[in-house]
Amino acid sequence: MMEGAGLKEQQHQRLAASGQAHLLRYWDGLEEGERAELLADLDDCHFPESLCFFRRAAQQAPPEQQQQQYRVDESMEPVPKEVQGSVSRDRERLPGWQAEGLHQISQSKVAVLLLAGGQGTRLGVTFPKGMYNVGLLSQKTLFQIQAERILKLQQRASEQFGHKCTIPWYIMTSGRTMDSTKEFFVKNDYFRLQKENIIFFQQGMLPAMTFDGKAILEGKSKIAMAPDGNGGLYRALGNQKIVEDMEDRGIAYIHVYCVDNILVKVADPTFIGFCVEQQADCGAKVVEKTHPTEAVGVVCKVNGLYQVVEYSEITLATAQKRNADGHLMFNAGNICNHYFTLQFLKDVVTIHEPKLQHHVARKKIPYINDQGQQINPDKPNGIKMEKFVFDIFQFSKKFVIFEVLREDEFSPLKNADSQDGKDTPTTARHALMSLHHRWVLNAGGHFVDENGSRIAAIPSSATGMSEAVTAVVNDNMKELTDLPIKCEISPLVSYAGEGLGKHVAGHDFRAPLIIDENGVHELIKNGL
Ligand code: UTP
Repeated sequence: MMEGAGLKEQQHQRLAASGQAHLLRYWDGLEEGERAELLADLDDCHFPESLCFFRRAAQQAPPEQQQQQYRVDESMEPVPKEVQGSVSRDRERLPGWQAEGLHQISQSKVAVLLLAGGQGTRLGVTFPKGMYNVGLLSQKTLFQIQAERILKLQQRASEQFGHKCTIPWYIMTSGRTMDSTKEFFVKNDYFRLQKENIIFFQQGMLPAMTFDGKAILEGKSKIAMAPDGNGGLYRALGNQKIVEDMEDRGIAYIHVYCVDNILVKVADPTFIGFCVEQQADCGAKVVEKTHPTEAVGVVCKVNGLYQVVEYSEITLATAQKRNADGHLMFNAGNICNHYFTLQFLKDVVTIHEPKLQHHVARKKIPYINDQGQQINPDKPNGIKMEKFVFDIFQFSKKFVIFEVLREDEFSPLKNADSQDGKDTPTTARHALMSLHHRWVLNAGGHFVDENGSRIAAIPSSATGMSEAVTAVVNDNMKELTDLPIKCEISPLVSYAGEGLGKHVAGHDFRAPLIIDENGVHELIKNGL
């Protein structure tokens, strides 16, 4: 083993060549363990490659003072009608798409891929977000809910087509979350899925940089590092041999989604069937943007190529544009829920990925100053570099979008609970309970209050209503989401509301209600 001084000298030479020798500023005062920590971080930094990313990203990003003027409005077009599908406008076609998707699942041609490499800074937890329990009656975590949806779909497709099938689950984590994620799955016995069908892989990390390209020390022995964005997926797919694994398993279609959407329909057969029938190589599920200033990225074309444009990149006038039917012109709200063929992913990994540039996010990055004090800056002092999962839409030869109902499919967990908070554990919990309440109503069940009087039923907006009625229902839904009936249905009983009639039709229930593989449980009657 090289002695301290020699090691320092060797590192110094290497780092000085990339202008990063300042990272050894505190070396002499570090304990052995701290030196090892710093060396591990230095290894992960991959200078000078990350500097090359930095230069390319910095060239592409407009300087701060120009950002307000940098708009893409003039080159934007909405997604053409011909490549759109919709759960509300194409109701009669949904059964056919679902049958096609289930058929593909039964052939074990469908895989799901979870993006779980984020840091969850806004939620403020130290463990991976998938391990979060939003306080459902069952206390299930996001990982468990997703695992059970996969199990249920495998079961449904196997039963319907008379042979066993598998939906492999690829889980992308980052260096910081890999061990705890794996441990959690082991501890929970892989949620009854087969261990060999859950494949963990790791995305890359990049150092945070000052505006002039110096990596930032967040502690004396710690470099400020962050995962390289959810678009780091494509590099990881290549260098961790995931594409080969998919090929070996005979996978043809992949559903990619984010860890934080509690309503996500993992491997949704209807979405998959729609994309397969359209012969698409790339698809995005979207929800209708609710109002012009909603902070959601919209899927659209820019200079003829598909991409997601963030609300902050367009002018209010463009965001407010409406079609003749009154809907916003740019209303395809991205919910990070994508479909790719394996062939498309292979092309991306081998041909396109190296061309993708990192996006630059100006951030307040805690650092250690020359006096060795920890500083939390109050304005951005550096950048993080990220690629986005949707950066590859531009390479698609046949791109489609599929519009779904927000209240049925999208409720992300981003922030910690706070008064009037958006996308919090409370809103996620309420969204799921509210959806399950509607499933019970649609299956012919009812809820009663403490006096035994039936609580007014609100039908699902997905089942045959006019736009005007839908709007009213959506308003009611909002009320319902504010104060949901406590009701939870295990994914092991129903994936998307199907098969509940035998449990609930004609029955009156008093909430809280749980329906799981062991039956129907009214917690009050059970004295719980
Ligand atoms: P977000 O952009 O919401 O980031 O990720 P986050 O890390 O969950 O939360 P904040 O911004 O730190 O508060 C959207 C999805 O992309 C994944 C996340 O795990 C989440 O599923 N993601 C994000 C990655 O897989 N890798 C990344 O580098 C970033």
